[in-house]
Amino acid sequence: MKRVLVTGAGGYIGTSLVPMLLQKGYGVRAVDRYFFGPELLPEHAGLERVKEDTRKLTPEHFRGIDFVIDLAAVSNDPSGELYEHATWQINHEARARAARLAKQAGCTRYVLPSSCSIYGFQDEGVICTEKHTINPLTTYAKANGRAEQDVLPLADGNFTVVVLRQSTVYGYSPRMRFDLAINGMTYGAWTTGKLPLLRDGTQWRPMVHVRDTAAAQIFMLEFADTKKINGQIFNIGSDENNYQLKPLAELVAGTIPKPVEIEWYGDPDNRSYRVNFDKVEALGFKARLRAEDGVREIYQRIEKGDLKKDARTITLQWYKDLDAWYKITSRAAMYGGMLDIGS
Ligand SMILES: NC(=O)c1ccc[n+]([C@@H]2O[C@H](COP(=O)([O-])OP(=O)(O)OC[C@H]3O[C@@H](n4cnc5c(N)ncnc54)[C@H](O)[C@@H]3O)[C@@H](O)[C@H]2O)c1
Repeated sequence: MKRVLVTGAGGYIGTSLVPMLLQKGYGVRAVDRYFFGPELLPEHAGLERVKEDTRKLTPEHFRGIDFVIDLAAVSNDPSGELYEHATWQINHEARARAARLAKQAGCTRYVLPSSCSIYGFQDEGVICTEKHTINPLTTYAKANGRAEQDVLPLADGNFTVVVLRQSTVYGYSPRMRFDLAINGMTYGAWTTGKLPLLRDGTQWRPMVHVRDTAAAQIFMLEFADTKKINGQIFNIGSDENNYQLKPLAELVAGTIPKPVEIEWYGDPDNRSYRVNFDKVEALGFKARLRAEDGVREIYQRIEKGDLKKDARTITLQWYKDLDAWYKITSRAAMYGGMLDIGS
């Protein structure tokens, strides 16, 4: 049985990826701070939960591990701006260090799930291949760029390093995120009849379903001819899911079986990038799901009552809440507790 260390395993992508790995017979060491709760991963004999901060990983964490998928990060632009220092530490330095530790421990593959947001703003008509000059506009995107630069040179004959630039992800996952475009549009449209659309709607954004991006990560663990992937960057998504946001909003609205109005918000978005996925498709990987599939599974789960929007589903709000509670409880706590205390 091959063993995979997944950092950020308790997050949106991780809580979909880990069950897929377990289903395929991998053993999983799921390393996370579990900011969103440890209960979102299934009970399974092949799963080992490790509550740890990726900035504090030691060689011991990598012992007995074959492959690493390094998801842990402060995972969006607004959180990256508010927690700038931590974002550099976690998204760049801790991932570069994890890759070095993995190599030293004799792991054979390391996958860095980066982001297509690294392309930032591109002129109309440009379709970014992996060779395109990156244009990271935010702390989050810049830290991804630096992580890519640091991990790729570690590739050698014994250590396969792959960078995956993921499109914006959508679809249901146990740690749900309603701060992602399709998910947020679907929530608003289904629950209030108003679909939130970020101005001005002409911006291009590639999308990928959460189970497709997880499948791409597993594909890179299993692809036999490592020479074709080692030290390489792959965009992850599909041309069918390259959208401008206004037509995407219309598609989401058209998939919801209720009347839906578009409600504009925000200042015009300065990120716009259209992306080419030929390189990963040439290996035989194809993202299969479409935006409509994600929209349907989300509104059906909301309707059944097993999916709710709360602060935990909005990444920035949750980190702000955790910070605020930490300040309050650490002032009042004594002897390991509040009204009840340890002896
Ligand atoms: N979701 C997307 O649309 C998208 C698109 C492109 C790239 N990505 C990248 O994919 C990765 C996963 O994204 P996600 O959507 O699952 O995000 P997420 O916020 O849901 O998950 C991140 C996980 O990392 C954990 N974490 C954060 N800091 C940590 C630390 N210092 N130590 C240990 N654990 C820590 C959190 O507890 C969380 O479970 C991130 O690197 C993100 O940048 C995501």
